[in-house]
Amino acid sequence: MKLKFKLAAGAITLAGAGVLAISLFSYFLIQRARDNELKTKGVVLCQQFIHHQADAIQRRDETKLLKGFLDLMNDRDVISGEVVDNDGKVIAHSDINLAGQNHKKILDLALQFPDGIFHDSGEQVLDLISLAKSQNPEAFMLGSPNAMGAVRIGLSKKSNIYFMRNIRHGMIALAAIVIIGAFILSFSFAVLISRPMAALTAAIEEIAGGNLDSRVDIHSSDEIGQVGKAFNKMANELRLTQRQLLQANAELESRLKELAKTNVALEETQDKVVRSERLAAIGQLASGVGHELRNPLAAIRNAVYYIREAVQDTPTAKADPTLMEILGLAENEIKNSNNIISDLLDFSRVVKLAPYPTDVHELLGELQTVLDIPANVVLSKQFAGQLPQATIDPQRMRQVFLNLATNAIQAMPKGGQLSISTRLDPPVNGYPSQIVVAFKDTGEGIRPENMKKLFEPLFTTKAKGTGLGLAISQGFVQAHGGKITVESQPGKGCCFEVHFPLGGDNGG
Ligand SMILES: Nc1ncnc2c1ncn2[C@@H]1O[C@H](COP(=O)(O)OP(=O)(O)OP(=O)(O)O)[C@@H](O)[C@H]1O
Ligand SMILES: [Mg+2]
Repeated sequence: MKLKFKLAAGAITLAGAGVLAISLFSYFLIQRARDNELKTKGVVLCQQFIHHQADAIQRRDETKLLKGFLDLMNDRDVISGEVVDNDGKVIAHSDINLAGQNHKKILDLALQFPDGIFHDSGEQVLDLISLAKSQNPEAFMLGSPNAMGAVRIGLSKKSNIYFMRNIRHGMIALAAIVIIGAFILSFSFAVLISRPMAALTAAIEEIAGGNLDSRVDIHSSDEIGQVGKAFNKMANELRLTQRQLLQANAELESRLKELAKTNVALEETQDKVVRSERLAAIGQLASGVGHELRNPLAAIRNAVYYIREAVQDTPTAKADPTLMEILGLAENEIKNSNNIISDLLDFSRVVKLAPYPTDVHELLGELQTVLDIPANVVLSKQFAGQLPQATIDPQRMRQVFLNLATNAIQAMPKGGQLSISTRLDPPVNGYPSQIVVAFKDTGEGIRPENMKKLFEPLFTTKAKGTGLGLAISQGFVQAHGGKITVESQPGKGCCFEVHFPLGGDNGG
């Protein structure tokens, strides 16, 4: 049940109970007063009648008695009456038929209660029986009442009953007015209270729902107004605390991010240190092995050359063609070994560039003549229309291109397409224009777990690879101030891009 209805019900109950109690109390007081008034009037009438008619009763002066009796009967409240003599015989009666009868009972009652007695039959009549005694008080005191007879008058209670009925009606009307008034007043009062309470409840629900901007518009100076003020103050504090919390949270988050960045940088630095130590060790080993192998390999190559010159036109060679084939194989393997040694030495040496303005497209054209392209591999070129000359070391860059193209071809043993494209990227964020040469193949692609290891020296997935091609290429490109990027889709192919600045007067 809503507060306003509770308050209204309470007020009605209170007002109803109050009105009922007051009405009942007043009602009985008034009723008693009216009854007493009627009784007093009866006593006075009776006493006056006895006073004036005592002689007439004693002398049986019926003419005077009847005249006085008729006067008594004329009173508006007296509706019946009788006078009995000291034998109990009725000498006057309001009902003429009863005159002369014996009503000793009236005389006995009067003698028993000489001060008079009221007999309330409970109907609309109040009987008053009074003793008519001698006017001589002495005779009365001697024990002889000198009773001359008794008088009974019946007083009508009708006017009292009507009066009380009117009073009752008036009280009911008053109670109805009071109850209705109490309802209207208490309901309006309750509405006055419940309206701000409803606003307060709505605001509290809003705050609970997360809207900390919710405030109440209560400006009264009573307790509810104070609750409203306290609520708004609490909401302000909550908002402030929330802001501070959010701010602290944001600061914490940014610190965490910085920490994570620092961590990554630290890990990278650690990685670099470890890698550079490993590279230095590998470089030392490679340089040593390369130098040691180079001279014996040159001697072997000279020896094979000498043997070929010595035997190629002899009958032995003609008789056994396998001899020349074996010599060819040996020469091929010597060449491969030489290449490996060159790679080892390239890798171990500090790169010293010999740059001069170079046409990159021309360099890529020469590459085609050196590349050993199998029949099942299609080579396509998408060169940028105009590419400015780049100040680069053409020999090193040619080797980079050769390595990447060779890798692409080797990644397509079942054939595919190798597309070489070039473009000129405009300056970005203060970095100069870059020439980009891309090698895209439709080969096997690179497994995600190998992507990070590609440029590590000696990393290879090939049976006959040294794993130095990309490491050397990256070294050369970095020496030019550039980088190699790679994107791969396992099973579909990959794309290596060489980015390097134009160099020289072009802003590199
Ligand atoms: N185009 C490519 N497609 C798929 N995998 C490639 C490609 N290019 C490089 N790789 C992978 O990267 C590895 C390292 O290449 P890298 O050129 O450094 O060495 P390698 O080719 O194995 O040996 P080599 O020293 O003869 O070049 C390769 O073994 C291969 O697994
Ligand atoms: Mg390679």
